[in-house]
Amino acid sequence: MSGGRAALVGPGRLGTLLAHALAAAGTPVVRVAGGSDAARAHLRDRLAGVRDVPVEEVADGADLVVVATPDGAVADVVDRLVRADALGPSHRVVHVAGVHGLAPLRRAGLAGARIAALHPAMTVPAGATDPALLHGVAWAVTAPPGDRPWAHELVTSLGGDPFDVADDDRVRYHAALTLAGNAVGAAVVAARRTLLAAGVDGPDRLLAPLAHASVDAAATGGAAALTGPVVRGDTTTVAAHLAALGTDLPEVAAAYRDLSRAVLGAVRPALGADVADELDRLLAGPDTA
Ligand SMILES: NC(=O)c1ccc[n+]([C@@H]2O[C@H](COP(=O)([O-])OP(=O)(O)OC[C@H]3O[C@@H](n4cnc5c(N)ncnc54)[C@H](OP(=O)(O)O)[C@@H]3O)[C@@H](O)[C@H]2O)c1
Repeated sequence: MSGGRAALVGPGRLGTLLAHALAAAGTPVVRVAGGSDAARAHLRDRLAGVRDVPVEEVADGADLVVVATPDGAVADVVDRLVRADALGPSHRVVHVAGVHGLAPLRRAGLAGARIAALHPAMTVPAGATDPALLHGVAWAVTAPPGDRPWAHELVTSLGGDPFDVADDDRVRYHAALTLAGNAVGAAVVAARRTLLAAGVDGPDRLLAPLAHASVDAAATGGAAALTGPVVRGDTTTVAAHLAALGTDLPEVAAAYRDLSRAVLGAVRPALGADVADELDRLLAGPDTA
């Protein structure tokens, strides 16, 4: 959906990037509300024609309203707009919270607005403004059947790749992405700390290629693509790792145990029962040994 004019509530990490991407796609953001003074000033300075207004006035003169607040604030923002009689049939209202389907937009729908819950399956860091960061990104779309065409078109206009997720499946969908994004990131953070403790200079040289290769393999091959000492049933190596980590890096040892239990759960059928039992014992924690 290029053309038209957009309004943004929540000029944070994703909202700011979306404002730049929408402008580049021919749907300029004309009004912005919420967020910090600095975030709104950034948009006023960097994008032509942006006005800084209260939430209740953000939809005036816009046909697309993007709510990019934290997940828990979406329903409240929609409620404020509806109470101000600011939404109607001329508006398309979207939020970008992965965990939510249509529920927080329900009142906008009752006011006659078209609604869609969109979610780019990508991490967006603070300060990101380059619309190219959204090119090729898969976006979940949860929308009433009649609203799917424009929602898909909007995503496509941003260079994204839309796919439908049913309202009932939205939380499961987002739990999966949280594992793939945050949990993988947390594992890499723990590995980085351990490499620094081992005196390895510039750990990103090792970590990024290894993590990318592992993620690529697991994303396509599932559990069969996992490797490492748990998969091999190498109990001696696992015990050595835990002993070394437990001394100086107990938080990393705890993460190692948790993640290794997840690996064990995925590959247990391929291990002998004795080996799996020994790994269960090692990974249960120092107090249960
Ligand atoms: N960043 C990502 O990687 C990413 C990716 C996909 C989807 N998302 C989704 O995008 C949404 C925003 O995430 P984010 O990472 O961009 O968060 P963020 O950087 O914290 O941005 C949230 C923005 O909303 C503002 N805000 C907070 N409460 C508000 C309220 N009640 N009314 C109006 N504005 C309010 C914040 O202002 P203050 O800064 O003053 O609190 C900030 O400008 C979330 O639903 C998230 O799930 C994020």
